[in-house]
Amino acid sequence: MNRTGAVSGRLPEFTWDVLDAAATVAAAHPGGLVNLSMGTPVDPVPEVIRQALAAASNSPGYPLTAGTPALRAAITDWVRRSCGATTEGFGVLPTIGSKELVAWLPTLLGLGAGDVVVVPRICYPTYSDGVRLAGATEVRADSLTALGPDSRVRLVWINSPGNPTGKVLPAAHLRKVVDWARERGAIVASDECYLPLGWDAEPVSVLAPEVCGGSYDNVLAVHSLSKRSNLAGYRAGFVAGDPTLVAELLKIRKHAGMIVPAPVQAAMVAALQDETHAAAQQERYRARRDRLVAAFTGAGFRIDDSQAGLYLWATRDEECWASVDWLARRGILVAPGVFYGPGGDRHVRVALTESDERIAEVPARLAQ
Ligand SMILES: Cc1ncc(COP(=O)(O)O)c(C=O)c1O
Repeated sequence: MNRTGAVSGRLPEFTWDVLDAAATVAAAHPGGLVNLSMGTPVDPVPEVIRQALAAASNSPGYPLTAGTPALRAAITDWVRRSCGATTEGFGVLPTIGSKELVAWLPTLLGLGAGDVVVVPRICYPTYSDGVRLAGATEVRADSLTALGPDSRVRLVWINSPGNPTGKVLPAAHLRKVVDWARERGAIVASDECYLPLGWDAEPVSVLAPEVCGGSYDNVLAVHSLSKRSNLAGYRAGFVAGDPTLVAELLKIRKHAGMIVPAPVQAAMVAALQDETHAAAQQERYRARRDRLVAAFTGAGFRIDDSQAGLYLWATRDEECWASVDWLARRGILVAPGVFYGPGGDRHVRVALTESDERIAEVPARLAQ
């Protein structure tokens, strides 16, 4: 029997291909393309991290799935410092970037047919892909009341600061989600990859005592160095939280060969121990954000949410493709909000990830 497509058939078409027509129009602009569509870092990898990678390049042996002791200590220290995880006892595990963990977590947790996974109403598409890979059922909801008494909920994804909306969920909201999940024996996976990028609000980790109550039961925080440290190309992430769940993930990942390469582990140690480059990168994004907010609001867009993170969630109260086309004619490519769920169909997502030189082009183009 030909089984080609048995698994890929569960997944949707790759969304970005739909943007090709607008990309062609934008690229034809005489001043060149300003690409604010994908949130891919454009600034150099900080020198301190490159040196650590290079120094570890002679790594002939298999790396540790659990991470080297140095990496485990660096992750633990960072989680204490940046997530406010003051209580001891959380587990940590490096991942090959965070996308693979997002995509495989439902499967690694043993979820399948009949199990429900809750994802935000407007969100990063990989949560849904992971639910589909596991053969579980997705429910899109931002509030617990929308969920009712569904006892089949096994996993709840939250994402604050959110992609694409930049929304920050307050500690009290996160606390309610954690309490609700614990009462039902469900797990809360909190994707916190934009936690270090707070602008108008201070993002809170699920591992902070005001959220998890000093116990890590049923909670996992998912982190990434892609944006904080310009390491998207290295594939460097980690998960921290419930020690029993993290131990279970480690056990499976050892068997499955889901291992962060040794030179990348060394680079992660350098990245996590250094806040100077992260602060400098945050300032670069802040300056770009200020420019883009002024230019887009000047052109009649309203910026909703967007208190933190790497994106502006912009609307002119029109269908998102109308905004995408209007911007493409000015050589500016953005992502249509509908990529992130039906509720996003009147917004566009504007990424802060273009060079200063390209972003300097935007105000004049939007004034036309
Ligand atoms: C919300 C969210 N989670 C996870 C990821 C994956 O990031 P990475 O695999 O580079 O760690 C992204 C990437 O854009 C994202 O926006």
